[in-house]
Amino acid sequence: MVKTVIVGITGSIAAYKAAEVVRGLCKQGLKVQVMMTERATQFITPLTLETLSGNPVVVDMFGKYQQGKVQHITLAKQADLVLIVPATAATIGRLATGIASDMIGATILATQAPVFLSPAMNSQMYKHPIVQDNLKHLREIGYQIITPAVGPLACGDIGDGRLADVSHIIEQVISHLDAQTDLVGKNILVTAGPTREFIDPVRFISNPSSGKMGYALARAAAGRGAEVVLVSGPTAEQPPAGVKVSKVTTAVEMLREVMEHYPGMDIIIKAAAVVDYRPVSRARQKIKKGDAELQLTLERNPDILELLGGQKGQKILVGFAAETQDLLKNAREKLQRKNLDLIVANDIGRAGAGFSTDTNIASVLHRDGRIVELPLCSKTQLAHLILDEIISITSDDKV
Ligand code: CTP
Repeated sequence: MVKTVIVGITGSIAAYKAAEVVRGLCKQGLKVQVMMTERATQFITPLTLETLSGNPVVVDMFGKYQQGKVQHITLAKQADLVLIVPATAATIGRLATGIASDMIGATILATQAPVFLSPAMNSQMYKHPIVQDNLKHLREIGYQIITPAVGPLACGDIGDGRLADVSHIIEQVISHLDAQTDLVGKNILVTAGPTREFIDPVRFISNPSSGKMGYALARAAAGRGAEVVLVSGPTAEQPPAGVKVSKVTTAVEMLREVMEHYPGMDIIIKAAAVVDYRPVSRARQKIKKGDAELQLTLERNPDILELLGGQKGQKILVGFAAETQDLLKNAREKLQRKNLDLIVANDIGRAGAGFSTDTNIASVLHRDGRIVELPLCSKTQLAHLILDEIISITSDDKV
């Protein structure tokens, strides 16, 4: 059945980009129904959106009644997803306080469909604690906030607050609507991000892992119906909706948290970049510099995944291998040594792959020797492809 996306456009200079979003969603075969605030019509005309969507655009709550129906309730019921793009600070404020004074506010209160907001505003406005509080509140009640991009803004400033890329907004909507239910009933533990091993109170050993891959996996697994626990090292990523997040700092803390959840889990995906060595002792005070060389003695951290592999039972265990050479050979060795079902091998030297990028390229090695090459794609898409590989194992009646 064709799915319906209700797109709400509010009064920001970025409103013109909503036309591209509407066009992109229609191209994906979705039915798109547009509503606009009065202010949005100062930036882009309803006729443009009507032409692109092929459907009448609603601006005035009391303007048109179709076949005796109340517009905002009709739209609210039709929606498989509501997307507000761009979402201004004023709209975000109204939504956070439940003010239903226009079509968008009223429709959102009346709908049971998932709500996505794609904010756009000046970076000072975006950073303002009131706006951040409102976004936090909306996130807590389950709205998905599409993080704005960083870049030049219409006012001449450079910073965050720029509407996310049109293709990214479309991808978020599509991946949500495509969400399958093939992981309903599964408990999944994902680890993400780096660990930090402190030398003294202000210095630590770590790596550039952004946590993006692990967060994408947790988000995708929750979207496909799994109960997900995410054990995360320090990252700037937003907690995914519907996922239980446990923040840790060191490898030893990660081990403790993972072991706590391990017994109840069906599938464990270890995307974290765990630091292998920690200083033997952590100085209580900041180490002052002197003229002599400074020697640091390091000791091994536990290999969390190897410990899990030693008590695997019927669980599915998935690891990552970040390599700069002999990718497949090293990955296969890790798969065997850690007793894994599957390992995702990343050549971190390749363009588009690696720690802080938004894209990734990977090969998936199965226990039975099969190798599946995954294409260069966004970490969200890759997360879904990795989950597909995991499901191919579970459907062999493993779990
Ligand atoms: N891993 C872990 N605990 C560690 C080190 C790694 O659980 N102390 C996990 C990672 O989360 C990843 C996999 O093991 O899923 C492989 O991590 P990687 O850093 O590529 O390999 P290492 O085993 O640390 O080997 P090396 O650093 O020698 O390549």
